[in-house]
Amino acid sequence: MIVNKDEFFREVTLRICSSLQISTAFGRTFEYLRKLFPVDHMFLDIADMSLGATRRIAFATTGTEIPEEISPLPQGLLEWVRELRAPFILNASDQNYQIQSFAPFIKLKGHSDIAVPLRIEEVLIGFLILRAKEGKFTPEHVELLATVAEPFTIALANVLAHEEVVIYRDRLIDDNHFLNREIFALMGDDIIGGNSGLRNVMEMVRQVAPLNNTVLLMGETGTGKEVIANAIHFASPRKDGPFIKVNCGAIPENLIDSELFGHEKGAFTGAAGEKRGRFERATGGTVFLDEIGELPLQAQVRLLRVLQNREIERVGGDRPISVDIRVIAATHRNLESMVSENQFREDLWFRLNVFPIIVPPLRQRKEDVPALIRYFVELKSRELGIAMPPAIAPGALERLTNYGWPGNVRELENLVERELIRHQSGQLRFDSLLISVKGEEAQPLAGENGDGPLNLDAAMSLHINKVLKMTRGKIHGPGGAAELLGINPNTLRGRMSKLGIMLGRKTR
Ligand SMILES: Nc1ncnc2c1ncn2[C@@H]1O[C@H](COP(=O)(O)OP(=O)(O)OP(=O)(O)O)[C@@H](O)[C@H]1O
Ligand SMILES: [Mg+2]
Repeated sequence: MIVNKDEFFREVTLRICSSLQISTAFGRTFEYLRKLFPVDHMFLDIADMSLGATRRIAFATTGTEIPEEISPLPQGLLEWVRELRAPFILNASDQNYQIQSFAPFIKLKGHSDIAVPLRIEEVLIGFLILRAKEGKFTPEHVELLATVAEPFTIALANVLAHEEVVIYRDRLIDDNHFLNREIFALMGDDIIGGNSGLRNVMEMVRQVAPLNNTVLLMGETGTGKEVIANAIHFASPRKDGPFIKVNCGAIPENLIDSELFGHEKGAFTGAAGEKRGRFERATGGTVFLDEIGELPLQAQVRLLRVLQNREIERVGGDRPISVDIRVIAATHRNLESMVSENQFREDLWFRLNVFPIIVPPLRQRKEDVPALIRYFVELKSRELGIAMPPAIAPGALERLTNYGWPGNVRELENLVERELIRHQSGQLRFDSLLISVKGEEAQPLAGENGDGPLNLDAAMSLHINKVLKMTRGKIHGPGGAAELLGINPNTLRGRMSKLGIMLGRKTR
């Protein structure tokens, strides 16, 4: 065997470091070593002292034999193994007592091994083993192989580090599923209005949840589309799989393809490694495409293909990858009119629109407002650390119910939070809403017809009329116009008659 030692070291090091996949790198190294050694099999084993065993993490062979993965060892042999330092030959017929007792555990019969102990700072982490027919190896083989213990040690250490990362990652994914389930358990009964204003919506959720079809959620901002998407996922057979949310409007246009579909290594500048996209990551679960109306046209084409074939293609990839996913999309925009303006593809719209669910705005389900207010007072008090949730002032609920809620449930949620921060004890009167209503209404006072400022009486008359409209003509008592305006009901009546405002209760 004539070989330049430097050249040997260089070649082995390059090959064992040539791939992040240890099996690939190991195979390449084996191909090279075969030319120099009479080797039939080559193994990379971890000495797992906590397991009391050696664990095989890579092998290469000229034959087809599949070696066992884990070989448990008796304590005495473990002690012996732990102390091995220099590379050495084990012959099956060796008379040495330890080798005699070791041989059956590693199925050495009829063979010889060269074992190279791999150590990091004195601690044994594993072995490189070359196996051949008995008697084939010479001391020169051992000597040569001893020079490459280090590169193999580094390769093995990398595998161990990677294993650890994978364990942590899996644990995180697990935790995440667990937390998702917890969140839903907390939220499960907390779809407020599920039996009243959202009864029809929840009925559709129940129908569609067990199936695999695409669902389109439509509704104004803050109506609870994401809540409903969650409800569908967690009521579906995919509930233990991932729920991956994509906010289509939040990803820069030039990255959206790689974000959704992943990319191969070097697919574009900056694509250092391969990356799985969100569709791939959602396998076994649900992808929630929020703000689907914001998806650029190019990505719409790709999405259509996913919905039709359940297949994705990574950017820079040349083979389709099948994905087992369910898609739920949501938008607050009018997709149909976007189609007619050529901003949204018609074919995609047809695909998505198979099962539309419209989440109605809060003003169309006013009956849910009191329950939502009470729910958020409870919830936000808990979140804010307020031990005793304050009471809601008489009349406030009625007033809140009649408000228009352009920001829907989210606006309501924010309002309750603000109110709680301002009045942690005492009563929640929700005056800030009144102020904002006043603010809104106050604008037109500066001349509704554009003919200069109104005089004070006219402005007052206009304002009283507006408040009366809000209270549907109610003057007296909780939620009445007098309360809203902060004056005595009799004073209000007096002023109304002076201004010529009709008395009496109107029904809107
Ligand atoms: N029926 C409901 N019961 C309890 N909480 C709700 C309900 N509907 C919505 N919410 C809460 O209101 C807030 C807004 O809901 P969500 O984010 O689902 O709205 P959205 O329709 O997705 O809004 P956008 O279009 O702005 O994204 C969330 O905090 C959500 O938890
Ligand atoms: Mg949303």
